Amino acid sequence: MRIEGSLHDEIDRVLFSEDEILREIQRVAGEITRAYSGLEFTVVSVLKGSCIFAADLVRKIPLPLSLSFVSAESYHAGTVAGALSLRWLHADEEICGRHVLLVDDIVDSGSTLSAIRDELVRLGAFEIRTCVFLDKPARRKVALTIDFRCFEVEDVFVVGYGLDHAGRHRNLPFVASLRSGTSVAAAPRE
Ligand code: IMP
Ligand code: MG
Repeated sequence: MRIEGSLHDEIDRVLFSEDEILREIQRVAGEITRAYSGLEFTVVSVLKGSCIFAADLVRKIPLPLSLSFVSAESYHAGTVAGALSLRWLHADEEICGRHVLLVDDIVDSGSTLSAIRDELVRLGAFEIRTCVFLDKPARRKVALTIDFRCFEVEDVFVVGYGLDHAGRHRNLPFVASLRSGTSVAAAPRE
C-alpha cells in the first residue's frame, strides 16, 4: 500500500504486515473457537480502536455469538492517563448472565480493560475473558489476565489496523511504529 504525503512521514517502520496480521487472527480465532465450543457468547468490542480487529476476528469464529460495543475514551495530557469515560451500546440480555469475550486493540497500562471488566461484572456478566490484538507488557500497571492475544509489542507507540495517533492512521492495513518526533498528542484515546 502506497501511503500519501504527511501520513507517510509519520510512520517509522512496519512491525506487522497485513499477511502476518491475518495469519495471527486465524490462529487466535481457532483458540477462541475451541474455548467457546458449545457455548453462546457475546463479543464486546472496545471502540474505536478494536473495531477493525473485532470485525476480522468474529468472521473467523464459526460459533453463535452476539456482537456488542462500548466506547472508551481516556483523556491524556502528554503521556499521563486521565479520566475514562465509557458509553455502552448493548441490550441487557447481551451481557447479563452471558459468557463475554472482551476485545480491545491494545493493552498498555491495563487500566481501560480492567475498568470495562469491572463494569461487565456490575452489569451481571456470567463469565468474562479478554482478547487483545496487541499486548505491551512493559507498560502494565494494573494486573490483568489476557486470555487471547495476537502479538506482543515492545514499548513504542504504534498505529494502524485500528490504532490511531490523534485520530489518524486507523485505516492502515498494517501496524507501524510512529516516527520519533511525531508528538504523541494530548488527544482523547479510544
Ligand atoms: P491502557 O493504558 O491499557 O488503559 O490503554 C488505553 C488505550 O490507549 C488503548 O485502548 C489504546 O486505545 C490506547 N493506546 C495505548 N497504547 C497505544 C499505542 O501504542 N498506539 C495507539 N493507541 C494506544
Ligand atoms: Mg482502545
